[in-house]
Amino acid sequence: MAIILNDPLQKQDEVLSLKGKVAIVTGGSRGIGSSIAMEMAKHGAEVVINYNSNKQAADEVIFEINQLGGKAVAFQADVSNHDEAHSLVNSTIEHYGKVDILINNAGITRDRTFKKLGTEDWNEVINTNLNSIYHTTSAVINPMIEQKFGRIINISSFIGQAGGFGQTNYSAAKAGMIGFTKSLALETARNGITVNAVCPGYISTEMVEAIPDKVKEQLIAKIPMNRLGTTDEVADAVRFLATNGYVTGQCININGGVYM
Ligand code: CAA
Repeated sequence: MAIILNDPLQKQDEVLSLKGKVAIVTGGSRGIGSSIAMEMAKHGAEVVINYNSNKQAADEVIFEINQLGGKAVAFQADVSNHDEAHSLVNSTIEHYGKVDILINNAGITRDRTFKKLGTEDWNEVINTNLNSIYHTTSAVINPMIEQKFGRIINISSFIGQAGGFGQTNYSAAKAGMIGFTKSLALETARNGITVNAVCPGYISTEMVEAIPDKVKEQLIAKIPMNRLGTTDEVADAVRFLATNGYVTGQCININGGVYM
């Protein structure tokens, strides 16, 4: 088919490239997750916004999606808990009939230098950032194999590639997500499932705003683009991975050049 620039029908097709797809965004009520949820909905996907504690924030994202004429629902689940992660997926299938896209975005930090890091700081971060993706993915994988279609997108971090001062727990979890991504991509490529990671750098979110001002200034000075990234810049890469069928096992870096 010839490409006709500015053809309104073609344009609409492009904008609704996720029409008919169902996407779960873990930790979708705030930060990078809420931008991803909006981006999925803008492109026609029916969205599940998973939240752990902040129902009001999740409802606000749903309101914005509805304003755009999109469909979204919020389901509470602590994805670091195996049973709750499975309930999240089961509720999604009950509500929308299937899951096409799983975006493992939920994540926390407990930054401390290693000598001060407690067992709880270690376990909380590993459970929430890494074990969660095992729980959610183990719930979606069989339905995705049966339908011969799936997009699994893991929101890792450049800290998993480069390390981060005060972040042994976080960087271990984020590096683990990259290894998980590549191994699962190998296993599921034959089933029409792609598995990829996105590695954001320092993005303007509550998590980064919480870094002490002096440290934050030093971190920004190390970014070649000399600014924090936006959540929309990360969501854009996620939408690309959700719509592309031949990219798998990759990690897309959205980091202003802070790690090359
Ligand atoms: N590089 C070098 N030295 C550093 C440093 C850094 N980035 N940060 C702190 N230090 C130094 C301190 O100045 C201090 O030096 P002195 O002993 O000479 O005074 C020493 O390290 C230890 O400091 P503390 O005793 O205060 O250490 P702490 O165990 O309380 O931890 C910290 C401090 C939590 C690491 C704090 O410095 C901090 O919050 N740093 C920022 C961590 C960070 O970058 N987090 C990123 C969050 S965003 C994110 O993770 C999202 C993403 O994916 C990118």
